[in-house]
Amino acid sequence: MCYAIPGKVDEINGRVAVIDYFGEKRKAYVDLIDDIKIGDNVFAQGGFVLRKISDEEARETLKIWKEIFFKLDAQDKKLARDPKNLYERANAIRQKHQGNSCCVHAIIEFSNYCRCDCLYCGIRRGNTSLNRYRMEIPEILAAVGDAVKLGFQAFILQSGEDIYYTDDLLVEIVKEIRKKYSVLLFMSVGERSLDAYRRMYDAGARGVLLRFETSNEKLYEKMKPNDGNLLNRRTNLIRCLREMGYLIVTGSLIGLPGQTAADIMKDIKMTADLGAEMFSFGPFISHSDTPLAGAKAPTLKKILDTIAQARIMNPDAKILVTTALETLWGLDGAKEALMAGANSLMINVTPQKYRKLYDIYPKRFGTDLDVQEHINAAIDLLKSLGRAPTDLSVS
Ligand code: 5AD
Repeated sequence: MCYAIPGKVDEINGRVAVIDYFGEKRKAYVDLIDDIKIGDNVFAQGGFVLRKISDEEARETLKIWKEIFFKLDAQDKKLARDPKNLYERANAIRQKHQGNSCCVHAIIEFSNYCRCDCLYCGIRRGNTSLNRYRMEIPEILAAVGDAVKLGFQAFILQSGEDIYYTDDLLVEIVKEIRKKYSVLLFMSVGERSLDAYRRMYDAGARGVLLRFETSNEKLYEKMKPNDGNLLNRRTNLIRCLREMGYLIVTGSLIGLPGQTAADIMKDIKMTADLGAEMFSFGPFISHSDTPLAGAKAPTLKKILDTIAQARIMNPDAKILVTTALETLWGLDGAKEALMAGANSLMINVTPQKYRKLYDIYPKRFGTDLDVQEHINAAIDLLKSLGRAPTDLSVS
């Protein structure tokens, strides 16, 4: 199993290398590895070269991939031909600008403690009926190691806003992971100081997942009532992190009570304005132990419309199929999203015993799935659509 095709270094100009994949050239940063040179075989993810590999390993992987890669590509092109409606147009744009590559990232939820009290969220601090857990460094390292063995190269480390993990501890986690594994790390730990994020960057993290949740300021303040949580503060932070060099994954909740269609259009625009590398729009799902218990979820159509519109307005973005979408509509829903402009997936690799405790909303997709089973289902789905689980899409 592999989630990236090895490429060959064609050129190096300062921090940027040109990588050749079956004749297709892509750029990637080289600052995460030492002594790279022209002719090296490398794995890159999210626009970063992660590691060099031997000629032999490259040959083996390419032998497996070369044949199916072109077959998949042809299937994808066929499915994207002759678009007739909004979703098909979005899919054709995705095909033209991004090709058939589909990121498959792993997510590890390492703590469900949270100091925030967001109305929609099941792990809000006000939910006193939830059992809380925290993973220590050895457990986190073991989870990353297990997932690396399964072929993952990009990880999202997510938690509630848990100040047990001091800045020092977060930096330590990043350092320890990067010392052992050549993986691309996205931090999803909420609002922290710029200094903390700078230190995590220096330790080797290169991405941040931080949704702004809604671009409607009034709705934001209503949904996030504790300690003056301001939308501006959050979007400013995201802007600064982008400036710092982080890849940004951001977006919003679709279907929050009180949200309008105009709000959703603004959400798409805000995501683009924040320079997101990956867009993440997921349905709101109500949780019975929150103030929004019983509120209705949006329709699949609303989510697909959002994805398709986001794609049409942002041909070069990666657009995620969220776990919340898969929770409501399963892999059939994921398939529809992939055919309406989406081109990224996440697989939950949190240790099984903790997965159900990361209860942001009920019955999360993947909670009871064995990781290998989940991978197989995702790969089967991608292949049926002519998509390759690779990360070639950074230009
Ligand atoms: N439904 C859907 N998504 C939710 N999140 C939190 N609570 C819910 C819910 N009830 C999302 C938030 C957060 C991400 C980690 O989980 O958008 O950014």
